[in-house]
Amino acid sequence: MSSTNNIDMDHYMVRGGKPLMGEVTIGGAKNAALAIIAAAIMSDETVTIENLPDVRDINVLLEAMSVIGVMIDRVDRHTVKINGSQVRNVNIEYELIKRIRASYYLIGALLGKYRQAEVPLPGGCNIGSRPIDQHLKGFRAIGAEVSVERGEIIAKAERLVGAHIYMDVVTVGATINIMMAACMAEGKTTIENAAKEPHVVDVANFLNSMGADIKGAGTDVIRIRGVEKLHAATYSIIPDQIEAGTFMFAAAITNGDILIKNVIPKHLESISSKLLEMGCVIEEFDDAVRVKGTSTLRSTNIKTLPYPGFPTDMQPQAGVALALSEGTSLVTESIFENRFKYVDEITRMGATIKVEGNTAIITGVKRYTGARVSSPDLRAGAALVLAALSADGVSMIDDVHLIERGYEDFEVKLRALGGCIEKCSSDADMQKFTLKTAVV
Ligand code: EPZ
Repeated sequence: MSSTNNIDMDHYMVRGGKPLMGEVTIGGAKNAALAIIAAAIMSDETVTIENLPDVRDINVLLEAMSVIGVMIDRVDRHTVKINGSQVRNVNIEYELIKRIRASYYLIGALLGKYRQAEVPLPGGCNIGSRPIDQHLKGFRAIGAEVSVERGEIIAKAERLVGAHIYMDVVTVGATINIMMAACMAEGKTTIENAAKEPHVVDVANFLNSMGADIKGAGTDVIRIRGVEKLHAATYSIIPDQIEAGTFMFAAAITNGDILIKNVIPKHLESISSKLLEMGCVIEEFDDAVRVKGTSTLRSTNIKTLPYPGFPTDMQPQAGVALALSEGTSLVTESIFENRFKYVDEITRMGATIKVEGNTAIITGVKRYTGARVSSPDLRAGAALVLAALSADGVSMIDDVHLIERGYEDFEVKLRALGGCIEKCSSDADMQKFTLKTAVV
């Protein structure tokens, strides 16, 4: 693998070949926490959030919220107190939203509480165009005037009045954003064809803990009765389904044996069932799941779907594991239009995958060889780390900051499972890693 003179970003250095064995504890769900910390400003009292994942997306959103006057007290890595009573500015700056798409949850929160919000239109990202037409459809349905001017979404309402909303597509973000705005509207809102992800349920439970009246979250139909005020609450975020699934696939791809603790097994059913098809052994406990790999993974087919289907956020991790299985597998990505960017990278490690439209045709190979690859996005980056942990030789994964958006202490947790992985930020570190981990 060629060295480089100016490593200007953090990299993961990985020497593969060792099965991952042991126990790992899963953190709070990033995609629940992002919406929950935004929703916390809807009360004028102090809200305490526990089991917060200490990841970049969360820290950037908290910083963005402090800029508009939200009082943030980071008690520790995993606990924050939020008070929205001093919010004076409903206008989120572009610089902030450019760094974190999920700040669009502030529109639902600010509109619900202050009847107005001005937030820059979030850009697309590496996995697809990411429209927000369904968010705007919901805001308009409950009475907001919404316009897009100078790249900003401007939402204003004299009154917010409950409505019956039928979502054209199943969308997590829009379901959550509309739920937030509607929970302080007058009267009853019904959201049909709602997203059912665990983090949608977590946000509904959080809002109810503040005094909202939301029923049916986790089903296709969510019924909301608006309330005038939301009060203080202390709430603990659910475990992260995708972090858990990533470690489950880490056991599969390295033929390891990992006990994944602090999970809700029900949330992992679609992932467990695919790993069973691939020949792994799964043992479920109340709040843990144990995954044992197998020397030769079996091929299977996967289609990503809204919950309870196989999660799109697990597609890259499954793809790189299937590329090491015996036989041919088909992976169909039905949620986003550009979520196969990891294929070019994993090909450098020896995978044979052909992408036709939204389907990847994967012909399994025996082994990966270490290579230099770069993380196209958060989940693809995590998948490349898993591949590197199973590869012969040393790999270098660039753009680690993308992985750190959603994984707390990723390399620390993998090292604790026996993985030979370090975060390096200089050429010297890289050389040192390669020499000291050389198999004697
Ligand atoms: C959330 O994104 C997650 N992000 C994504 O996780 C996850 O992949 C996605 O849900 C699906 O589960 C956060 O929660 C911060 P969607 P979101 O709205 O809400 C279309 C990760 O790796 N759509 O459910 O943006 C959209 O184009 C990230 O943690 C519209 O057409 O996803 C897509 O095809 C990546 N109009 C589909 O719906 C809209 O107004 C699902 O998107 C909104 C969405």
